[in-house]
Amino acid sequence: MSKLHTQHLLLLLFLRLLIKKITTATEVKALVKWKTSLTSSESLSSWSLSNATNLCHWTGVICDATGSVAKIILPNSTLTSTLNELDFASFANLIQLKIHLNLLVEMLPSNTSTLSKLTHLDLSGNNFTQPFPSSIGRLSELQDLQLYNNSLSGVIPY
Ligand SMILES: *[C@@H]1O[C@H](CO)[C@@H](O)[C@H](O)[C@H]1NC(C)=O
Ligand SMILES: *[C@@H]1O[C@H](CO)[C@@H](O)[C@H](O)[C@H]1NC(C)=O
Ligand SMILES: *[C@@H]1O[C@H](CO)[C@@H](O)[C@H](O)[C@H]1NC(C)=O
Ligand SMILES: *[C@@H]1O[C@H](CO)[C@@H](O)[C@H](O)[C@H]1NC(C)=O
Ligand SMILES: *[C@@H]1O[C@H](CO)[C@@H](O)[C@H](O)[C@H]1NC(C)=O
Repeated sequence: MSKLHTQHLLLLLFLRLLIKKITTATEVKALVKWKTSLTSSESLSSWSLSNATNLCHWTGVICDATGSVAKIILPNSTLTSTLNELDFASFANLIQLKIHLNLLVEMLPSNTSTLSKLTHLDLSGNNFTQPFPSSIGRLSELQDLQLYNNSLSGVIPY
């Protein structure tokens, strides 16, 4: 292998590591910010900035092969409050969000549409009340939407 070729490969590798690091930091910050906004979060004790290196082993967090958050699965975890502080724009690789059987109220924040890969969204068994933001209609990959047992009103945009 030529020296130049090797240098290119090393540069590529470095860039990839750098992007992974930035992505992880963004996801960690967004999850901790949401956790902080919850009035009950005992089930999320592993979620902390000081435990960032374990992101892919945090309770309810499942990563893809690149180490980016692919699934957030937190059923029946006594999560109390809203999704208002969960910055969906930080999760470019999220495919599943399952937070059924909790005590969450209000509704999805309006920038949910940034979840361009989301296929499964389970919000059932909470106390969501507000109508859907119209942005949910832009979740182009969505296959499975569970909303039963909430206090919803209004129409679901599509
Ligand atoms: C960090 O996360 C891991 C994986 O969930 C967990 O086992 C560990 O207890 C956490 N450490 C702290 C200090 O919370
Ligand atoms: C929810 O969690 C509680 C406490 O861990 C448990 O007793 C209950 O059976 C769970 N409910 C469901 C529907 O899984
Ligand atoms: C998405 O919404 C959250 C919560 O309202 C906000 O903090 C964040 O800045 C928004 N992000 C974008 C890209 O609009
Ligand atoms: C759901 O919200 C309604 C309206 O705010 C309230 O009356 C009701 O008690 C809530 N139910 C639960 C299970 O939190
Ligand atoms: C909705 O909630 C009620 C009361 O907690 C429960 O009996 C019922 O099984 C739930 N429905 C579904 C489809 O889970």
